[in-house]
Amino acid sequence: MTTAGATIATLRAGAAPLEDHRRVVAIDGPAAAGKTTVARALADRLGAMLFDTGTLYRAVTLAALRAGVPVTDGAALAELADARHIEVTPPSTPDGRLYDVRLDGEDVTWPIRDPEVEANVSDISAHPAVRAALLTAQRRIAGVGAVVMVGRDIGSTVVPDAGVKVFLQASPEERARRRHAELVERGASALYNDVLAELRARDIIDSTRDASPLRVAPGATTIVTDGLSAEQVVDTIETLVRSVWGSVEEPA
Ligand code: DC
Repeated sequence: MTTAGATIATLRAGAAPLEDHRRVVAIDGPAAAGKTTVARALADRLGAMLFDTGTLYRAVTLAALRAGVPVTDGAALAELADARHIEVTPPSTPDGRLYDVRLDGEDVTWPIRDPEVEANVSDISAHPAVRAALLTAQRRIAGVGAVVMVGRDIGSTVVPDAGVKVFLQASPEERARRRHAELVERGASALYNDVLAELRARDIIDSTRDASPLRVAPGATTIVTDGLSAEQVVDTIETLVRSVWGSVEEPA
């Protein structure tokens, strides 16, 4: 599978993925808890790579919707995940994006945020076969060294030995307020109550699925972000990371 090929290409030439994951920062939490914003700022401060694993599930969802693959057909969806080339690279356009996402070469950074993807991504990511198809690529990314990885099951399943594990939490109302504001800023028409209902529905699917459900990983620090600025959250996580990284030697 060539998922996230460009990111994998940042592995040092000839270097095997590192087995030591102490420089991996796993940030998990429910939809719209502020994970990506916080992770971007944190990665900048640490000089680490950022990888938002939700982009993989979203890109597979977009590909499935376009190809007419039913959201119930786990095997066909996993095949699709294997066949498609998904790349996540630094942002090429100053339009508010945090990174570029390409699906077979096409820029799908914004299409993967469309309401139709939003409405189907949790169902598609609940299939164990889809999760298995995306696991290898995620683990390779964890092998680059200093990387901030964002998702739902990074600390519990993808990189259980990550040096720092954080679970970002916020009330559904706070998350809906943030997601609604984001949508309005992008010119999308959305009602707050619809956004709230959508988030609640995704929370239920994400946390009750059998395969890698959303939950606080053993050893993770939970941060409730209601009433906190992104900067305050980043400060807290940076302190945690520096205390762990202080005792980890840089790979040669
Ligand atoms: O973080 P996000 O909203 O972009 O994630 C989109 C969906 O992908 C979300 O409903 C759950 C799923 N997801 C997942 O199951 N595991 C991950 N590691 C990341 C995302």
